[in-house]
Amino acid sequence: MTYGYFESQAREFVITRPDTPTPWINYLGDHTYGGIISNTAGGYSFDGDPKYRRLLRYRYNSLPADRPGRYLYILGEDGQAWSPTWAPVCVPLDRYECRHGLGYTVIEGCKNGVSAQGTFFVPPGARLEVWRWRISHSRPEPVRLKTFCYAEFCPYDADNDLTNLDWTQQIANAWAKGNVIYYTTHMRTTGCTFLCTSAGPSGFDCDRESFVGRYRSEQNPIAVERGHSLGSLAHRGNGIGSFFHEWVIPPGESVEVVFVMGIADGEEDVPNRIAPYCDPAALEAAFGELKAQWQDRLGALTVQTPDPILSEMVNTWNPYQCMTTFNWARFVSLYECGIRRGIGFRDSCQDTLGVAHVAQSAVRERLLRLLGNQFSRGDAYHQYFPFTGEGDKTGYSDDHLWAVLATTHYIKETGDVDVLAEPVKYADGGGSDPIYAHLARAVEYSLNTLGPHGVPRLGFADWNDALNLSNEPAPAESVLVGFLLCKALREMVQLAEHVGRQPDVERFEHEHRTMADLLNQVAWDGDWYLRGWKGDGSPVGSRENDAGRIFLNPQSWAVISSAAPLPRSQACMKSALELLDTPVGIMLMGPPYPKYDASIGGCTTYPPGAKENGGIFVHTNPWAIMAFAMLGDGETAFRLYRQIAPPGHLENPDHFQVEPYVFCQNILGLPHPLYGLGRNSWLTGTASWAYVAATQYILGVRPDYGGLVISPCIPPQWLGFKIRRRFREAWYDIEVRNPDRVSSGVREIRVDGRPVERLPVLRKGDECRATVVLGQHK
Ligand code: GLC
Repeated sequence: MTYGYFESQAREFVITRPDTPTPWINYLGDHTYGGIISNTAGGYSFDGDPKYRRLLRYRYNSLPADRPGRYLYILGEDGQAWSPTWAPVCVPLDRYECRHGLGYTVIEGCKNGVSAQGTFFVPPGARLEVWRWRISHSRPEPVRLKTFCYAEFCPYDADNDLTNLDWTQQIANAWAKGNVIYYTTHMRTTGCTFLCTSAGPSGFDCDRESFVGRYRSEQNPIAVERGHSLGSLAHRGNGIGSFFHEWVIPPGESVEVVFVMGIADGEEDVPNRIAPYCDPAALEAAFGELKAQWQDRLGALTVQTPDPILSEMVNTWNPYQCMTTFNWARFVSLYECGIRRGIGFRDSCQDTLGVAHVAQSAVRERLLRLLGNQFSRGDAYHQYFPFTGEGDKTGYSDDHLWAVLATTHYIKETGDVDVLAEPVKYADGGGSDPIYAHLARAVEYSLNTLGPHGVPRLGFADWNDALNLSNEPAPAESVLVGFLLCKALREMVQLAEHVGRQPDVERFEHEHRTMADLLNQVAWDGDWYLRGWKGDGSPVGSRENDAGRIFLNPQSWAVISSAAPLPRSQACMKSALELLDTPVGIMLMGPPYPKYDASIGGCTTYPPGAKENGGIFVHTNPWAIMAFAMLGDGETAFRLYRQIAPPGHLENPDHFQVEPYVFCQNILGLPHPLYGLGRNSWLTGTASWAYVAATQYILGVRPDYGGLVISPCIPPQWLGFKIRRRFREAWYDIEVRNPDRVSSGVREIRVDGRPVERLPVLRKGDECRATVVLGQHK
């Protein structure tokens, strides 16, 4: 069964059947005002914070699936109701199509000659969303129709909404005045949700129980069945926004109705907020602005390669997903319910890597905010909640180190060294320091928090949240953090060189060498590197172990950190492939743990082959791709990229189940009976790292302090590729040729005809043409 296809030119994914194996969603808006919409209009919205400022409700993992949403009921003269988005009425449509585009979704349904097309989007910078419906028909006589729109409001605090019902149900209040329905809580402290219609309605409903009726659902509301709205108000309970319209559409004509939903400080602010979107021309202009914004963002890096799937991902869907993960970290999706996770420190640091080239000021702001969650001793809160700013959870051994990678990448991309002097307060009241000192404290913290082998302690966990090795009698240690620290130290060496801090260059270089030597002494297991040691000194990720013999991450990071000598780099990556590769991705570790073991931790709560217990944790695959690219093996790097690229699943969506246009976080591994099934799509570190792996390691165009480094590592059969990129506000048109059919190695680089070592930093607005020839130096 196929459910859709890519329309590359339009940068849309077109879904052709509504009954996708899971809801295939899109994100609307940005981190100021956001929402999720599925291919059948299920989903919800939030104003900057899905935990404290949830505007529309959603019932996760419920039956019927994917409810509620932004719905429209159409009632024909025959008395039959249907929904152009298929759900929630779910009667079969004569035609259905959903187009997920960049920041918008268009869903069209046709029945009995009537066609209704809904366009859903958040105008750039607005704290509201627009649902524009166009209804037309192909019948020879005038068509009489009734429509009811429907949305279910949330009393803002999403946690209380689920757990404290006698409070949230007593405080809700919804009423209608003219073309607007208002919803708020008795305290009115959060403001006022509104839903407005551009066309004078024949009626309204504000109370869910009145509109839906007892023991019914969104599928068969009593108001729609009776053919008119009830004029209900919500004095408590569950507020909804439903407008009732009656239409007569002459042959060959169509009608348009726009609903605008959002949040205002108070009732009196609503008219001003909605005015700009009530005029069709202004609305069209806002939609055009949204499209232009995305064209501009995606235009910052475009490629032409011999591989259509890599090109599709790099030109459109991967950078689009990167922006989404940057906006919401792992906070709000169909898997993370927007209550628990906040903005993760490590996640968010990694997310900046995928957007620094298009969102310089937002990344700068995010880095400052993240470093404000660092403690004066160097480690950091694991996450924070954007609305209250409150930090949460400590004890992770890696969070702070990602800040070094994120900040140095940001400076290489943008040239903004001034950020290093920006003062930021520590989260524990331990004073304030410039960013440079924050980064130095991050590496110092890890250098000072070592275990019995001299390797960094694991703490509660490292990158692997679910590997919680027992810390008794001594602290457990993490080889992965050891290598991550090596990478962070190398970055600090380069940074210190760049800003002329010679004593730091020497100090960090010495620490890097010492840690790398130590890891090579104590963590080499013969054919690969260990994962760490439990508190009782027993190794994890060793050939001595029956389960958990080898973990992928320490191998990839041994290479990425340049801590491993070449023969070991080659050997450990070879072992990882031999023992962990599958046709849809490399498994995180193996063999999986057969049963729960508290001394290993949360990963053993999963059955073998799931998530961190031997699943394909897709996030880690780009690291392996980078490692193979660094080793010059373009064939393998590309093969591994293609095996995780989501469009590869277009052929088998009923088993993979999640969206084929974005990366998912996890796929069940070989030992699992449902091997190959994907979950947790959209919000995953896979997005930014796959983008880095594809653009900086396979295509090999990497920002550095002094310009763009060119170091492709491609399949030898490629004859070349092109990449156009903005860098520090100048444009680079790069053509890479591969006449000798090699994988890697650059014979010459010319900029506008002149030979160079790397592409220099140009003046703002300048353009250059670069030609790169791969092969041996002559
Ligand atoms: C999830 C978390 C991420 C963590 C990973 C592995 O993706 O968001 O922070 O590194 O799981 O446990």
